[in-house]
Amino acid sequence: MHLTRTEKAALVCGGSFWSTAAIERAGVPSIMITDGPHGLRKQSEGGDHLGLGESVPSTCFPPAAGIASSFNTSLLERVGRALGLEARAENVAVLLGPGVNIKRSPLCGRNFEYFSEDPHVSGELGAAWVRGIQSQGAGASLKHFAANNQETNRMTVSAEIDERTLREIYLPAFETIVKREQPWTVMCSYNRINGVYAAESRWLLTDLLREEWGFEGLVISDWGAVDDRAAALRAGMDLEMPGPQATSEAAILALDDDEALDASVARVIHLVERANPQGEDFDVDAHHALAREAAVESIVLLRNEGAVLPLDAEKTVGVIGEFARSPRFQGAGSSQVVPTRVDSALDALTARASVEFAPGYLLGTGDAEALAAEAVELARRVETVVLFAGLPEGYESEGFDRKDLFLPADQLDLIHRVAAVNARTVVVLTNGGVVSLEGWHDSVAGIVEGWLLGQAGGAAIADVLLGHANPSGRLAETIPVRVQDNPSYLGFPGDGDIVRYGEGVFVGYRYYESAEVPVRYPFGFGLSYTRFDYSDLEVAPDGSTLSVTVTNTGDRAGADVVQVYVAALEAPVRSPERELRAFRKVWLGPAQSITVTVELDSRAFSYWDVTTHGWESGGSYEVQIARNAHEVALRATVKRESSMPARPLSLDSSVNDWLGHPVTGPIFRRAAASISGGGDGLVEGGTSVLEMVGSMPMRRLTRFPDVPVTEKQLRVLARVANNRVVVKVVRLLKPTSDR
Ligand code: BGC
Repeated sequence: MHLTRTEKAALVCGGSFWSTAAIERAGVPSIMITDGPHGLRKQSEGGDHLGLGESVPSTCFPPAAGIASSFNTSLLERVGRALGLEARAENVAVLLGPGVNIKRSPLCGRNFEYFSEDPHVSGELGAAWVRGIQSQGAGASLKHFAANNQETNRMTVSAEIDERTLREIYLPAFETIVKREQPWTVMCSYNRINGVYAAESRWLLTDLLREEWGFEGLVISDWGAVDDRAAALRAGMDLEMPGPQATSEAAILALDDDEALDASVARVIHLVERANPQGEDFDVDAHHALAREAAVESIVLLRNEGAVLPLDAEKTVGVIGEFARSPRFQGAGSSQVVPTRVDSALDALTARASVEFAPGYLLGTGDAEALAAEAVELARRVETVVLFAGLPEGYESEGFDRKDLFLPADQLDLIHRVAAVNARTVVVLTNGGVVSLEGWHDSVAGIVEGWLLGQAGGAAIADVLLGHANPSGRLAETIPVRVQDNPSYLGFPGDGDIVRYGEGVFVGYRYYESAEVPVRYPFGFGLSYTRFDYSDLEVAPDGSTLSVTVTNTGDRAGADVVQVYVAALEAPVRSPERELRAFRKVWLGPAQSITVTVELDSRAFSYWDVTTHGWESGGSYEVQIARNAHEVALRATVKRESSMPARPLSLDSSVNDWLGHPVTGPIFRRAAASISGGGDGLVEGGTSVLEMVGSMPMRRLTRFPDVPVTEKQLRVLARVANNRVVVKVVRLLKPTSDR
């Protein structure tokens, strides 16, 4: 059906806050697109993208910061499937998620919505999530593309990032998911990248996303991300949200570019056509049970001195902290859903153990001293205390960044006072972004990282504390000693509207490990109630396959995450100490062993080269099996052929290039030896002089007095070396006086 230009302009701008425009005359219906990512936020009345208005009840799964710690792709896929079913049940065509932005700084207020500081983890988990959603006939929206790593000035800031850093750190998660899963939509971010709004970047949305990566879906704007609608259309930004947008429609009508408009219209229509009819109601109980399973796997056991955990259910446990009773289980902003129900840890523990409770502090305002004193008294009476502490809601949110990593002062004070009277104190943390453990870490026996765990988090915490489940989470981000140690510290959140990613590829553990900066807990860290050992590492000579045996050496069943890192030993660019290239989660009964096989593709050995503008590799590498980013258990050296095309010699090549070349190197050395009477220096002084001039372009060397070689001679030699002519060259390098 033929559409008028006015109808086309309406189609590429939203029809309402959460839906596309309907063109009834042409039989194009409207479809609904809503948040995401860890639950469905469908607003039946009104619309806002700040988490303010009500929405229909849906299952609140653990937000990304939590579920990333599971390192379990099949779990993520199952959660994705459940989200897809819930979307279908509510007639929502596209769910706005997952968010795969990299945690550049622990201070980003929205870190709870992102997976990791590591691109491989973000890409693998995000891909599983998208696979799950889309398998149910609902679409995903991969966001926020790209380099949206802070909330401060998010709608105007320009992320100034060099090419290699973009390719190696900030783009790969998007690349993996686009290439592997073809999300129905990709959401462009609010910010600018190197001066250009993501929404207006043709390089980002067309050259890279569509032409290089082969994206076949639709690009949607983040809500309010479009500044100049005409520029965005030309860049390949198809659908502006929210709608309707009279100004944008007018701008499109004034534009003399039907090709761009028609391309975007076709993509909107394709999206509308692939949207499936409303699905069946979902099984609320089954989804709650899945949310609990996901929450169990999200929990990371950080400290367990004297095996204080699991708790002895025969003895009364002192449970302290308002968070035990009033859980904070998701973050604030556009992702905030209305849960179908909420489990509190206090209820879950009380149902299965003898518990005495004291709230200990207030989550609102008021005088808390009496509460603290009561909690300390309780701590004195019981053998073991479980103290729930964490960040209250106002401490982190979409829309702003944190200023520090500290827990509220009253909670810190309470931890000190409780730990002083009870050595068997276990702290359970509630937080979206990492918090500082300094000042109290050593005075408590146990620490459980409880993140934001979704609506079933309370029951999951009880499962882990009581040993009904064995903790298996691993940190998907480093817990630093001080926020000042973070590599982005001086460059976050930038100056005004500019943020320079000066730390380059050295993000998170890539920096801490390379610069040997101590951290409180490294990336990949997590304890279990059992212990795993690694043996029999076998690696193909080129590293393309490896196998390693994991053994559960304890007496409980449990799960381990096998982490495979690669260290480039002789890369031509400064490379991180090690980089995670693969992981596998395995479940093992007591004394059971399993052999895990992993394949590594060439990207696992590559860096982004800014001269070839491509992925390059070659030389020696170490393949490492590590417990976490800091503790390597097994290692093997492998060699890869160089991928770099041999660069032809020219007069601009360096002295070193000429000396290193298989044709010219020997000629020069022979000639130098005959000139200097036996030494192998090109000019008097021997090898050290060669080293001193090694980086000098050859042409410039010839301009120095007494250098017995001319540009003309070099040109001939270069042609010989580059295989273009074959001549006898022995006479070419005679001293100038003889010629
Ligand atoms: C957020 C997106 C979200 C959108 C719609 C924006 O503020 O950045 O993640 O999907 O609002 O609520």
